[in-house]
Amino acid sequence: MLISHQMNAALNQQIGYEFGASLQYVAIAAHFDRESLPELARYFYRQAEEEREHAMRFVKYIVDAGGRVEIPTIPAPQSQYATTEEAVQKALDGELTVTREINALVDFTFKETDHTTRNFLQWFVTEQLEEVSSADTLLRIVQRAGEQNLLHVEEYVARQRHRSGAALARADETE
Ligand SMILES: [Fe+2]
Ligand SMILES: [Fe+2]
Repeated sequence: MLISHQMNAALNQQIGYEFGASLQYVAIAAHFDRESLPELARYFYRQAEEEREHAMRFVKYIVDAGGRVEIPTIPAPQSQYATTEEAVQKALDGELTVTREINALVDFTFKETDHTTRNFLQWFVTEQLEEVSSADTLLRIVQRAGEQNLLHVEEYVARQRHRSGAALARADETE
């Protein structure tokens, strides 16, 4: 086994955090779906899928490292939101929490001189910068638009989606 039992336990805990983030995003997406804000709903359903993929990266890593996957209890997500701002703030707070969790894992790899796990975690360090940045931007857009002008937010999210879709298509062409 390439990782210690303590590291194995810490990584199992992170699987729980990532699945927890996934469920939280499903709850946020369903809230927007119900409010007839389809672009915001779509954006957060997609985020939910990404968080599941994050959890699966940890699963695969633990197996590869010869450890044992034990998925912890996942707490229920918050499902009700009074405003759009509250829901998006919840998303940003969640990403900030996950960033602290990833940082704590990296700290632990230093303590254990576990270079393999530290290397594995670098992808998440980079990913969290992106996740916090996009959640922060979305929150500012929501605050600027205000609860009466959420169609502006919908247009912004749709534009971002088409832009990243076009960028992906260009990357495919140049491959
Ligand atoms: Fe994540
Ligand atoms: Fe995330």
